[in-house]
Amino acid sequence: MNRNIVCIGAGYIGGPTMAVIAKMNPDRKVVVVDINASRIEAWNSPDFALPIYEPGLVDVVKEVRGRNLFFSTDIAAAVRECDIVFVGVNTPTKTFGRGAGMASDLQYWEATAREIKGYAEGDKIVIEKSTLPVRTAAAMEAILNDHAAHRFTVLSNPEFLAEGTAIRDLLEPDRVLIGGPQDEAGLAAIEEAVAIYATWVPRERILTTNVWSAELTKLAANAFLAQRVSSINAIAGLCEATGADVDEVARVIGADKRIGPKFLKAGPGFGGSCFKKDVLNLVYLCESFGLHTAAEYWHGVVKMNEHQQERIVSRLVREMFNTVANKRIALFGFAFKSDTGDTRETPAGAVARLLAEEHARLAITDPKALPNARRDLADLQDVVFEPDEYKAAEGADAIVLMTDWRHYPALDWRRLYDVMRKPALVFDTRNCLDAAALRAIGFRVLNIGK
Ligand code: NAD
Ligand code: UGA
Repeated sequence: MNRNIVCIGAGYIGGPTMAVIAKMNPDRKVVVVDINASRIEAWNSPDFALPIYEPGLVDVVKEVRGRNLFFSTDIAAAVRECDIVFVGVNTPTKTFGRGAGMASDLQYWEATAREIKGYAEGDKIVIEKSTLPVRTAAAMEAILNDHAAHRFTVLSNPEFLAEGTAIRDLLEPDRVLIGGPQDEAGLAAIEEAVAIYATWVPRERILTTNVWSAELTKLAANAFLAQRVSSINAIAGLCEATGADVDEVARVIGADKRIGPKFLKAGPGFGGSCFKKDVLNLVYLCESFGLHTAAEYWHGVVKMNEHQQERIVSRLVREMFNTVANKRIALFGFAFKSDTGDTRETPAGAVARLLAEEHARLAITDPKALPNARRDLADLQDVVFEPDEYKAAEGADAIVLMTDWRHYPALDWRRLYDVMRKPALVFDTRNCLDAAALRAIGFRVLNIGK
């Protein structure tokens, strides 16, 4: 074993994860490869204009790039030279054929398995980093070990980092999970994978299981988090109808140590590339095994989420005298959460499209996500993209705050009020602004769950 690592897939997972592994394992060479040449070029850019925004990432890349971390499109050479292969390619929801809209599209995954087999010149440990349906490792093993000259051992090491806090989550994980076959070769491979993390993660936080438990745990963990968000959003609607305040309800529910305070923030619903995809994947798995009631239960989490965005638009239209046609609405924030430029499945996208159906004129502002927003909404008419919040608000009838960017509460809201049409409305879907102060300026204010 030469202990060197290759990671196939230089995206949100491959890039940050390998940067931290390289930082903490200076004696190992780590190569991140991708078929997307422009992405690799960005990872290698001399001025560190990396392809993704993540707080703290640039500093880690500056420290290790060229030392023991390398980005390349030469997949063949990287696979040949490394004994440990992480696979972090995308596993989106299938859009065609059986399981369309639910199951994972495993074509990128299978292509990688065939690449690894084609280029390998010795035994390898292959580690699933992507989130995959349970039992994918069996398919991977079957492809890799069929008439193979070398032995491939497949492990599952799902990633639990959240975007926006990726570097902190990687440096101080609650747990690292490594699943592997429970035979001699499997247990030895698990120990090799444990050694990568043990250079900085306390041993008791590195949990080992069989492969199927590891694969399923990742889907279940995301489903539990998504379910909490949908649960509090389901209560938010009831709060609006009854005069209760969802933030108060959440605070008190979360004070119960058995429940805990995290992931109880009502808002526009969860976005991001994974929650919806992973819950739907779980639904599909339940269906495939005949567990229809369990499938329906988890499907409710996604349905509730979509309903939340429809509810936001219905309420806004109602509050704007039942029409937003030709009214300018400024969306503050387009990223699915703060501290990221990622707009995949962002609630702001759903809200923008629903408002466009109502013929609203949209002005979209975001400190990091405008390039992605432009791409996502390219087919819509009557949308302007404006980095300056004050210009976005100019002539607007309403501001809808969609992303809880930290600087939004500190904006000059009097100045925003002055440039808007009256009556000026703010719909704070993150409940992060000082509603009383806004009302004192003259705004009409709507919140989620109040
Ligand atoms: P991404 O789309 O940002 O990156 C995937 C990369 O893989 C792309 O750059 C793509 O070009 C590359 N790729 C695809 N096929 C390839 C091939 N055959 N050879 C080489 N490169 C190939 O996706 P991501 O957000 O990094 O997610 C990757 C996986 O990690 C998914 O399964 C996701 O569920 C999981 N995950 C993501 C996060 C997150 O925060 N984004 C967190 C935990 C788990
Ligand atoms: C999530 C999980 O938190 C990670 O553990 C997991 O690794 C990752 O998915 C993945 O598999 O991709 P991420 O989607 O990056 O991470 O971000 P989260 O912080 O979980 O937020 C997800 C969405 O839920 C965001 O839109 C956020 O605004 C929303 N959310 C979160 C709420 O509306 N309320 C909350 O209380 C918490």
